[in-house]
Amino acid sequence: MNSPIVLKIGGSIITDKSSAVPKALPGTIERIAGELAGVCNENSPLILVHGAGSFGHPLAKQFKLTEQFDTKGLIETHRSVKSLNAMVVDALVSAGVPALPVHPLSCAMLEQGRISDMQTAPIHEMLNRGLVPVLHGDVAMDSVWGMDILSGDQIVPYVARKMGAELIGIGSNIDGVLDNKGQNIPEVTPATFDGIRKYIGGSSHTDVTGGMLGKVQELVELAGKSDISSRIFDASAAGSIIRFLQGETMGTLIQKNK
Ligand code: IPE
Repeated sequence: MNSPIVLKIGGSIITDKSSAVPKALPGTIERIAGELAGVCNENSPLILVHGAGSFGHPLAKQFKLTEQFDTKGLIETHRSVKSLNAMVVDALVSAGVPALPVHPLSCAMLEQGRISDMQTAPIHEMLNRGLVPVLHGDVAMDSVWGMDILSGDQIVPYVARKMGAELIGIGSNIDGVLDNKGQNIPEVTPATFDGIRKYIGGSSHTDVTGGMLGKVQELVELAGKSDISSRIFDASAAGSIIRFLQGETMGTLIQKNK
């Protein structure tokens, strides 16, 4: 099997993240499914991860899930993000992509918010069989705190390392990392990250997982620890996902120190 691609589509792309109640953007979900259908084949195994957007963050905030264990909040938030995942998987299958849901709640264990263990054998076998596993930001059990929020931004580097991925991307609604003048920063390394982290914002909407800063932190750590480079790019325009998968220089490349 060729080394897999790990691609996350942010919740800001597939949902209306400004909404206090779950609101999907079905037209965009269909557009993305169509783009993936055009490029997916046995030679480029794909692990897709999507964010929770308005299906996760408002509920997580309402039930204070980053601060406390809450049975109702755990159940309701999982049910909500699972329903978004079903929409994404359905759109992919309708577009001809052999997609299957993989719910992180059922296969990942956290320790103080970080993945301590994740069952990836089923994902591996899906890829071997030409299937596309679709994971998502979720709630997850935590050995110390009982539960916590597991962002897709943390899932991406974890599965990328475990599955030996070479092309890694997070599609957001911003053109990668921006400086204090709003200009794109084409490259970030662990060495340059400290100097620019003050410019990197959180999210303009309810976001319990850290917005852009959270993404950059995860990917800088990935580059520092494993020499795996990745890209944060704007996935809101039609064709952007195809361009990313074709290896176009776009957004911000996060890579090891030079
Ligand atoms: C958040 O997942 C999960 C929950 C709030 C339950 P993400 O961090 O991956 O979601 P987005 O991309 O910010 O919407």
